[in-house]
Amino acid sequence: MSTIEKEVSRRRTFAIISHPDAGKTTLTEKLLLYGRAIQSAGSVKGKQNDKHAVSDWMEIEKKRGISITSSVLQFEYEVYCINILDTPGHQDFSEDTYRTLTAADSVVMVIDAAKGIEPQTRKLFRVCAMRHIPIFTFINKMDREARDSFELLDELEKEFGIGTYPMNWPIGCGRDFKGVFDREKRQILTFSDAHSGGTRIKAIECSLEDTEKLDSLIGEYSRKALVDEIELLDGASFDFDIDKVRSGELSPVFFGSALNNFGVEPFLENFLKMTTAPLSYLSNEEKISPLREEFSAFVFKIQANMNKAHRDRITFMRICSGKFERGKEYYHVQSKRPIKLSRPGQMMAQEREVIDEAYAGDIIGVFDPGVFSIGDTVCEKGMKVEYAGIPTFAPEHFAVIEQIDALKRKQFAKGITQIAREGAIQMFFIPESGMERVYVGVVGMLQFDVLEFRMESEYGVKYRRTDTPHSLVRYVMNEDIDFSSLNLMQNTKWVQDVNGRNLLLFTAEYEMNWALDKNPQLILKEFSQM
Ligand code: G4P
Repeated sequence: MSTIEKEVSRRRTFAIISHPDAGKTTLTEKLLLYGRAIQSAGSVKGKQNDKHAVSDWMEIEKKRGISITSSVLQFEYEVYCINILDTPGHQDFSEDTYRTLTAADSVVMVIDAAKGIEPQTRKLFRVCAMRHIPIFTFINKMDREARDSFELLDELEKEFGIGTYPMNWPIGCGRDFKGVFDREKRQILTFSDAHSGGTRIKAIECSLEDTEKLDSLIGEYSRKALVDEIELLDGASFDFDIDKVRSGELSPVFFGSALNNFGVEPFLENFLKMTTAPLSYLSNEEKISPLREEFSAFVFKIQANMNKAHRDRITFMRICSGKFERGKEYYHVQSKRPIKLSRPGQMMAQEREVIDEAYAGDIIGVFDPGVFSIGDTVCEKGMKVEYAGIPTFAPEHFAVIEQIDALKRKQFAKGITQIAREGAIQMFFIPESGMERVYVGVVGMLQFDVLEFRMESEYGVKYRRTDTPHSLVRYVMNEDIDFSSLNLMQNTKWVQDVNGRNLLLFTAEYEMNWALDKNPQLILKEFSQM
């Protein structure tokens, strides 16, 4: 086996997605602790000590030298080299969150057992489904009152159109949470063992027929319920099929409690076995194997430093094939120029670690003098690849941005065009008018702040921003259409993208339906399908 084969086959690159507060940070932290310190840090911690996982990471990193970044956490676990991609949520939610998913080979979806599917999970799931990557579900907070487990699975199947396969099954929830039953091994993990402070909870072999033993472990009431539920599950659920898992059609489901470190280890072990090593990526109609010797990568995120003191731009790339070596000259496909990637790092916190080599599946961040755009390809000289690019995601918030200083017209146009080109925002023109007023669309409100900051600090331009009530955008597919003759509601706005394609902005679904109703000739298309 070549070094590349060895290194690539042990890599697992995935993202954890969830709605804020479902437990993504807590689960990530626990996985990290398993990665480095199973003996000491895997123990149950009180809530107070568990606070602020991010700063905990910093501490852990200092102590153990784990490479931790705001964008990707890399650590070793057994034979594996794991890359967890960060998908910013809360107020940091932006188009970058979606784009990050294009760099992952699989996804772990954390669901709050009391809440089920929530809006942010829904949005992120759609992006994963587009790529047909494996999706693993961790139903968290079983130590609290939870919704009925069958109902939760039903919701996942109906809303997401995927099959589910529970790997384990919870025994009660909240105050009556007794543990989980492992369906494959026919073992019980008891929750009380998690509380006794053991670092590794021992699974107890126990058949469902062994009434006496089960009663002593979880009590008669829970035993009866469990036996009934497992019978129902075995009869009604999907069969396990690893190919379907790998093509994203069947999601293995795990129940547990991240905070109590309960069910996390079996989850990790099963997940690593079932998920895939780095996948092939599509380039010019051809799939490029990660095992190819030559290095190639694509840009999925550009982060302009918000700190005025040093105006760094960091470009994040996902390595799709081969091995990256520091100091070597590579080729930037879009500019058709050779390029040396300066100070490549795997760590993007306050201090970053310069790396010498990295392999397909890894993410590297490089200092960018302003040459890269989202979706660009960098590769070995002479290698003919150009990755398929990253789809643009439908903005959900819009504003009119208006230049206020006529003397800075040029800077305004230049700045906003460049920032849009980098993918920090999306820009739409108002037909038949100039660049003094444009529409800006974003996925997360944070992107407006980034725009304002960068326009001022990099281009010296202030502008007026007026938020509009639009939240839906559709392409107009009709070739010849007279927009002035369309019967539209007052709030509906006609705009054009940078390629001159026509779009309509709506404030709500009913407004779009109204437009379709009153103008039967109108053909609209979803934004992300273009
Ligand atoms: P997020 O990254 O998805 O936003 O969620 P995060 O891990 O920050 O968890 C959100 C809250 O849920 C935290 O409580 C966390 O402690 C709690 N939590 C996570 N997993 C579990 C679990 O398995 N059981 C229970 N009962 N709670 C869980 P918080 O009060 O908001 O913060 P903190 O004071 O604990 O830091």
